[in-house]
Amino acid sequence: MKKIVLLMLVMVTSLLIISSCQYKFIVEPEVVPPNPDDTISFSLDIIPIWNNGDNCVSCHDGSIQHPDLRPDAAYGELNSMGLIDTGNPQQSLIYDHPHPDTDSHSWKKYTSAQAASVLLWIEQGAKNN
Ligand code: HEC
Repeated sequence: MKKIVLLMLVMVTSLLIISSCQYKFIVEPEVVPPNPDDTISFSLDIIPIWNNGDNCVSCHDGSIQHPDLRPDAAYGELNSMGLIDTGNPQQSLIYDHPHPDTDSHSWKKYTSAQAASVLLWIEQGAKNN
């Protein structure tokens, strides 16, 4: 009888050990800074930064907090509010204000890859492409 209990104990323990050794592979979203030679597309590269996962539009949805960063409104709004400065891309508020290395806009920051994409888009003329 004792042997059976012992055997059960060993089995349970080894089962626990085996099950605790599962590896979980967490797939991180890809955050790759843009290649400076790439042409940045406003609709394909920039709009998703603001809209995917409600990243920015959770607040900037046109109701209270401007700029309205929803796909149909963002381009017009950024220009009418003067948040893009193609002469001085780094000074553009849409780049600089939520930049990860600034103290401003602690609500939400770009990742450094997102900031790099936004800057490159402005350097390429901030086109509605
Ligand atoms: C939790 C709410 C919230 C989220 C999310 C958010 N913002 Fe803001 N944002 C604000 C508030 C509040 C202000 C006004 C106060 C300030 O300037 O910090 C603001 C201001 C700004 C301004 C300056 C507008 C001006 O006229 O000076 C820009 C640009 C901006 N946000 C961009 C973004 C971007 C890009 C994202 C996504 C990465 C984002 N925001 C996400 C709340 C938010």
